[in-house]
Amino acid sequence: MLIRPATPDDVPSMRVLEQQTETAAHWAEREYDALFAADAPPRIALVATSEADAGRVVGFVIARCATAEWEIENVVVAREERNRGVGIKIIRELLLRAQSAGATSVLLEVRESNLAARRLYEKLGFSQQGRRSNYYHQPEEDALLLCFSITNLRQFGLEAE
Ligand SMILES: CC(C)(COP(=O)(O)OP(=O)(O)OC[C@H]1O[C@@H](n2cnc3c(N)ncnc32)[C@H](O)[C@@H]1OP(=O)(O)O)[C@@H](O)C(=O)NCCC(=O)NCCS
Repeated sequence: MLIRPATPDDVPSMRVLEQQTETAAHWAEREYDALFAADAPPRIALVATSEADAGRVVGFVIARCATAEWEIENVVVAREERNRGVGIKIIRELLLRAQSAGATSVLLEVRESNLAARRLYEKLGFSQQGRRSNYYHQPEEDALLLCFSITNLRQFGLEAE
């Protein structure tokens, strides 16, 4: 599996993955296209691709990276590729890039009932910083606000190889 920055050619594959995933954040096509616009808010988008399957996109992560506090906005792994470490690898790569860019922390919100995502973030060393009541709709649910402190990269064995 290869992890690399997304290109405009990856957008259709990213949209398919997102649309197949109920717990993903759902964006309009123009929001994906804006990832690559010169005047867009600073974001990073990484894709995981399968070398065994002609470079098929099997996962992606998108984060805002305007300040010292990066924010993960979306992360999706293809259903048939889950539980094989893709999620860990792609977020680990994002954390390393945040470190290289001088960020101090990476934040995100997650549905309280999304146990798979919570387990993934917990394993990476994210910790709960707060709760946003009724943050999500359809269905209504609280969001947990999680934070990863970049100083923890070494502690969790995530320093650059
Ligand atoms: C959350 C998600 C990205 C995880 O990706 P993944 O590639 O399956 O994760 P990994 O294989 O790297 O697993 C990482 C850890 O999470 C755990 N995990 C993964 N799926 C799980 C599940 N369904 N239930 C419980 N734990 C789970 C794994 O067990 C693993 O920990 P372990 O080594 O102790 O077993 C994936 O399930 C997904 O795309 N979900 C839908 C989109 C979504 O909810 N995004 C998050 C929005 S905040």
